[in-house]
Amino acid sequence: MLIRYKKSFEKIAMGLLSFMPTEKDLKKLQQTIKQYESEEDQKLFLWRQEEDIIGLLGVKFADRSGEIQHISVNPSHRQQGIGKAMVKSLKELYPEHQFIANEYTAAFINKCDLDDDRTDEAPL
Ligand SMILES: CC(C)(COP(=O)(O)OP(=O)(O)OC[C@H]1O[C@@H](n2cnc3c(N)ncnc32)[C@H](O)[C@@H]1OP(=O)(O)O)[C@@H](O)C(=O)NCCC(=O)NCCS
Repeated sequence: MLIRYKKSFEKIAMGLLSFMPTEKDLKKLQQTIKQYESEEDQKLFLWRQEEDIIGLLGVKFADRSGEIQHISVNPSHRQQGIGKAMVKSLKELYPEHQFIANEYTAAFINKCDLDDDRTDEAPL
């Protein structure tokens, strides 16, 4: 399940964040975590499976929208649908919001069918 970040998860969150290609440098990583801790509009979520924290999702909110800035899953748990499950849970938590990717998350997020809850007719 998706849970909110808190300071006691800092180490595990930094570990997960470091899998993002943009967060390889320790200084940058510390800066990013600090931003999520201090900026009201930026929120970090973690994916808890039983007692383990195995995924991270970072969002920058504005009115009714949210930009997915960071997404990462522990390498031992990849290819099991956790990345997609995190995005789905985020949408369920904020049903009124429109979520978009940024240039660093688009490759994966675009695979997550952000509009999959539309009631459009099935494609021909
Ligand atoms: C991206 C990431 C979060 C996916 O997590 P996951 O739990 O393995 O994803 P899921 O199991 O829900 O989905 C797997 C699908 O995503 C695809 N995928 C995984 N990483 C991807 C990437 N960087 N870009 C595009 N697609 C990706 C897989 O090929 C797979 O596709 P398929 O369903 O067609 O086989 C994970 O690979 C990760 O932590 N990567 C390192 C961090 C990173 O680069 N984040 C930015 C990604 S743009």
